[in-house]
Amino acid sequence: MNFPVKGLSHIALVVKDMQRTVDFYQGILGFPLIKTTELPGRAGQHFFFDLGDGQGSLAIFFFPTAKEHAPGVTVTRRNVGGFDEDGLPDVCVTDIGSMNHISFNVEPDRILECKAKLEAAGIPVSEVLEHYDFDARGNPIKESLWLSSIYFKDPDGIQLEFGAWHRPFNENDTAHVAARADEAESWMERMQQRELS
Ligand SMILES: [Fe+2]
Repeated sequence: MNFPVKGLSHIALVVKDMQRTVDFYQGILGFPLIKTTELPGRAGQHFFFDLGDGQGSLAIFFFPTAKEHAPGVTVTRRNVGGFDEDGLPDVCVTDIGSMNHISFNVEPDRILECKAKLEAAGIPVSEVLEHYDFDARGNPIKESLWLSSIYFKDPDGIQLEFGAWHRPFNENDTAHVAARADEAESWMERMQQRELS
């Protein structure tokens, strides 16, 4: 293997209603919710469900701007990690029901090596994204770093990621209230208010 991959990190899917999704995956299937986060700007929510081995997870996106099911329209416009100038996430939004990306698990100290290898192969790759928790004012909390990731695409435009977990999750990692589909607009307004405060 040319890259130091250790199994699957996560598969990211897009849903319409995060609470309904929590009710299904945690409530019915029994997959524990291990990580919740809100994406920068007004991009949405991202919730992770453990698949039992502490590594592989289902990573669910709620994008308030996601379109309804649209068969045949599936891939991100650009690499995940990019944001339009107004802070909206449309470059990485895919439709409800789509698979947004697949993430391969690597160790944190191998991310830059993976990025360099992709670049050497002529494959466009995102910057390294560091994922933090945020305080009430929306500022990142340094010691909360939980994931580093880079994004690239396969020849068909399928979004891929190398993802490196930084720490085990605890009860503080699932503090976000799952968004409901009927509050997508008010959710974005709330996020905008926080940016302005
Ligand atoms: Fe991911």
